[in-house]
Amino acid sequence: MASQWFVPFLLLLILEGTIGRPLYPLPSKTEIKNKQPLQTFRPYNLAHRGSNGEIPEETTAAYMRAIAEGADFIETDILASKDGSLICFHDVTLDDTTDVAEHERFSKRKRTYEVQGYNVTGFFVVDFTLEELKSLRVKQRYKFRDQQYNGEFSIITFEEFIAIALDANRIVGIYPEIKNPVHINQHVKWPDGKKFEDKFIETLLKYGYKGAYLSNDWLKQPIFIQSFAPTSLIHISKLTDSPKIFLIDDVTVPTQDTNQSFWEITSDSYLDFIKDYVVGIGPWKDTIVPAHKNHLTTATDLVARAHAHNLQVHPYTFRNENIFLHFDFHQDPYAEYDYWINTIGVDGLFTDFTGSLHQFQEWSSPSGKDEKNASALLHKIAFLISSRKRV
Ligand SMILES: *[C@@H]1O[C@H](CO)[C@@H](O)[C@H](O)[C@H]1NC(C)=O
Ligand SMILES: *[C@@H]1O[C@H](CO)[C@@H](O)[C@H](O)[C@H]1NC(C)=O
Ligand SMILES: *[C@@H]1O[C@H](CO)[C@@H](O)[C@H](O)[C@H]1NC(C)=O
Repeated sequence: MASQWFVPFLLLLILEGTIGRPLYPLPSKTEIKNKQPLQTFRPYNLAHRGSNGEIPEETTAAYMRAIAEGADFIETDILASKDGSLICFHDVTLDDTTDVAEHERFSKRKRTYEVQGYNVTGFFVVDFTLEELKSLRVKQRYKFRDQQYNGEFSIITFEEFIAIALDANRIVGIYPEIKNPVHINQHVKWPDGKKFEDKFIETLLKYGYKGAYLSNDWLKQPIFIQSFAPTSLIHISKLTDSPKIFLIDDVTVPTQDTNQSFWEITSDSYLDFIKDYVVGIGPWKDTIVPAHKNHLTTATDLVARAHAHNLQVHPYTFRNENIFLHFDFHQDPYAEYDYWINTIGVDGLFTDFTGSLHQFQEWSSPSGKDEKNASALLHKIAFLISSRKRV
């Protein structure tokens, strides 16, 4: 790793004097100096809930697999336990992805709560203490995926998730979501009167996550903070300068906090407003290119308009299985990646199969060759400078 990095680093020392500010972090005295940096020359590989196409979602094993397979960022959903601990878990209920139903001692814990306009019944995360949550085991969400790991792994905390990224042998970013903040703040109270969003940011600051997009601090510990709730993003912008991504749901789903429609939050005037708080948007991919009878229709102008507002676009969720692939891609996930990267021109992709996206990018836009090749590096730096605003 170190020798591979050595030549470009010498070049950067020279370049740095000529362009005034470093584009890459200077080597610190910590072990970070020996780590392979985050790639920033091609769209980001965002490991959605870890490599959950293979291993039950949001578990240590799923994140380790994603890192081994080449993820640039590992993605997670943060919720809170009854006693206020922040954990990595996607659903507000435990029913679909844990063995909670098999635990006799929790049999009376089922509840019905109104969540985002719907009555939901199940075993709610917010009704379990961290210790109770740790006694559960996670299972695969989809029947057609590998079931062999069901019952092996436990739910992890936000801090355990951060440790996985920081312990990786190269620089791996994190991409945590402030999940269901309205629901969490309704049901979980912290003794110091702080809100869910405050606890979330406190955790990140404790582990050194800070700095604007592409700053030296950011490149050492890259992060995107994501949320569907604009008020959460606006609130935390007073607490951290880390880059934020505004997630956008399907066209029929209003925002959970401000009850705004899809059309309102994707309008030019709204993008103009939200760009002061976020560096990008994360829309569901079918809202960018709507499908009809499982065939793609004409792409909307959302990506072009977001780019015109200096906003990155990180659509979700890319999944290899035929059931998720539109017919246009003739059952080939690489054809789908090719379309979104080279035709639509997105800046990052949330995928359940990090390994597939990584292999596609290594074949079509390889990293290793570039880093050993001075002319390619110079080109890359010139590109970074010219496209800084957009990328
Ligand atoms: C949820 O259930 C309660 C109690 O039955 C009812 O009053 C309320 O209107 C329901 N809410 C929704 C969104 O259906
Ligand atoms: C949200 O907005 C819709 C459409 O404007 C409206 O019908 C609905 O009552 C609103 N819901 C809430 C909870 O304010
Ligand atoms: C270095 O990269 C450039 C641009 O991609 C390419 O034209 C050149 O052949 C490469 N040189 C070597 C030695 O790989």
